[in-house]
Amino acid sequence: MGKETAAVILAAGKGVRMVSRKAKALHPLCGMPLLGHLLRTVSRCEPGRTLVVVGYQADEVRAAFSDWEVEFVLQEEQRGTGHALMQVERYLADHGGEIMVLPVDTPLLKPYTLQGLMREHREKGAAASVLTSFRSDPSGYGRVIRRQDGSVEKIVEDKDATAEQAAVKEINAGVYCFASSVLFSALKEIKDDNVQKELYLTDVIEEATKRSEKVVALEADAEEVLGINDRVELARAEKVLREEINRSWMLRGVTLIDPETTYIDCEAQIGEDTVIHPGCHIGGTTVLGKGCTVMPGAVVTDSRVGQGARLGPYCIVHGICLPYGGEVGAFETKKNALQP
Ligand code: UD1
Ligand code: CA
Repeated sequence: MGKETAAVILAAGKGVRMVSRKAKALHPLCGMPLLGHLLRTVSRCEPGRTLVVVGYQADEVRAAFSDWEVEFVLQEEQRGTGHALMQVERYLADHGGEIMVLPVDTPLLKPYTLQGLMREHREKGAAASVLTSFRSDPSGYGRVIRRQDGSVEKIVEDKDATAEQAAVKEINAGVYCFASSVLFSALKEIKDDNVQKELYLTDVIEEATKRSEKVVALEADAEEVLGINDRVELARAEKVLREEINRSWMLRGVTLIDPETTYIDCEAQIGEDTVIHPGCHIGGTTVLGKGCTVMPGAVVTDSRVGQGARLGPYCIVHGICLPYGGEVGAFETKKNALQP
């Protein structure tokens, strides 16, 4: 992305549909909170700055990511995605370049897709660019309304859509790239005259087209821009990511006897020729060496397991360091026993 780009992640919402005491940004997906996934994706695109808008449980979210090189911006009242961006304006007062905006609940997004949006935005000389996708069931998402010539006119939220608009299958993924001058001046015009009485960021798109600014839409893979609003979608995303993780370890020489029932967290590492039997959980920051055998039902978290070790069926291993060729017996529990 480059120095001239600022990335803004919107993470202030409560996530009402999660029905949770925990902020949505902190719900884990394959062992990493949603915000962690977004930050990882964004950091791979190397923006000049990364800002995270926090609100609901702001202190908890800040504390969980205090090690990351990000600036937190507080949105005290959550009055909508447009209102969230308004809080960012004074932090980016001197920022003349582009602003990339991402919701915290789209964790399957890939860096190359973001870079693709940025490239399209620049090549087309756009003032605003938005990632879209096609869904057979678009309900819950904002719909992309196009003019007869195919150009984007506006985005209409599900709850505000007429029957005709609701039938549109092209949805807004909630990921945008803006010229900062256009974004902040258009934000001044948006109103909360909608069903949810919120200030919608999506209305900036309509404001831009009204001003005859260039608005570009780029289609992304529907699965990749799956938005997580409830726990059903969380489980769906977890399954997609789990399959991706398992596939990548198999291609790097790890045998998974039954990938469908193997759970490997996104930060775990596994050496080649290790064999993992069904029903195992390899969690947290675990590093399994080469040529290990992990028998059925083993649960291994935050541990270092030396080359050639054998973990017996249904063992529980947490925070240990197991030497080369070491062994943990069937049903044995080993915890916090850090050995050299
Ligand atoms: C939003 C889009 C919708 C799009 C969908 C894609 C708007 C108005 N709608 O809807 O067009 O199809 O995402 O997934 O933008 N947030 C804040 N502060 C707030 C409100 C929300 O920071 O005051 C954050 C949330 O934490 C979340 C993101 O903004 O990360 C999106 O909010 P959410 O309520 O999930 O919007 P959707 O209804 O999914
Ligand atoms: Ca959402």
